[in-house]
Amino acid sequence: MSRNRGRIIETMENVFSQSEKIPPEDMLFSYRGILFPAVISSPETLEALKSFETRSGDVILAGYPKTGTNWLGQIIGELESTDAKYTEEEMKERINAEKKLETFPRLEFGDPGIYERMKKLPSRRIIITHLPPHLLPPSILQSKAKILVLIRNRKDTAVSYYHFYNNMPVLPSFSSWDEYFSAFMNGKLAWGSYIDHLLEWNKYIDHERIMMISYEELKEDQVLGMKRIAAFFEFSLCEEDFPRIAKKTTFQAMKENSKETHGRFGDILFRKGVVGNWKDLFSKAQNEEMDRKFEDCLGGTKLAAKMKYDIYCKA
Ligand code: A3P
Repeated sequence: MSRNRGRIIETMENVFSQSEKIPPEDMLFSYRGILFPAVISSPETLEALKSFETRSGDVILAGYPKTGTNWLGQIIGELESTDAKYTEEEMKERINAEKKLETFPRLEFGDPGIYERMKKLPSRRIIITHLPPHLLPPSILQSKAKILVLIRNRKDTAVSYYHFYNNMPVLPSFSSWDEYFSAFMNGKLAWGSYIDHLLEWNKYIDHERIMMISYEELKEDQVLGMKRIAAFFEFSLCEEDFPRIAKKTTFQAMKENSKETHGRFGDILFRKGVVGNWKDLFSKAQNEEMDRKFEDCLGGTKLAAKMKYDIYCKA
């Protein structure tokens, strides 16, 4: 049973109808120098988030938008519930408790009262966020909770976000790829600059409670990736659970099921689900500009090696 069933469809329909009432120039607000979508968050919510109380057993997933957070969120949900062996009744109770949050499951979404309501969620809570470390509530990094950080090659992330920006009613559209590219490079997008996120997370790469995983390594060998995740969160699964969950969470399977799980948001979210799609849109000059920026900021780092930049991002 999908944990988010019902919750996502209802909240996204609400989000779509609210977006229709907002002119493009009011769709984003700036908080501490970073843009956020006004329909799903607010400066007050981000302020209230500072007092969020993390539990040591919380399972946390952090990833910049379009790195595959919905996919990995689904995988983690499957791994966690298989380990916990919830009965159908327990699962229903969890789904109902999450539904009461009345927002799409991202830590920074919702009204400022969301964090009080989150206190009522049963453990283990699965918490997903697009925020960079410096905007996370202090309790997350101070607690014993483990954080899985999802990274994706920067060029595919840029292309995915471009289509998302232009198809998602909560975000203002761009008139061309070139206009968007410059906004991406300058961090003038919701959740700010991806390279800044990577730079920040790179500082935590050896942290014992943080594990990094890449979209590309999951695409290469999902079972192996899931085994690493299960070991990190100390989930205990049977050998045969892994291929079963992998089959359930392929791009095709999630897309086919998306009418039921995500409603019309599914058509926007499940786009291509491949590695290397950036080659369709990048000009030679844009490709070189991005390579230069990456080399200047992250060249030679452990994170660059983890991303296999030379394999996935070079023309
Ligand atoms: P594309 O736009 O390149 O297709 P997020 O969930 O963080 O918003 O990321 C969305 C990206 O993840 C989209 O990339 C989407 O297609 C891809 N995605 C979603 N489900 C997936 C799956 N099961 N397997 C692989 N990619 C998936």
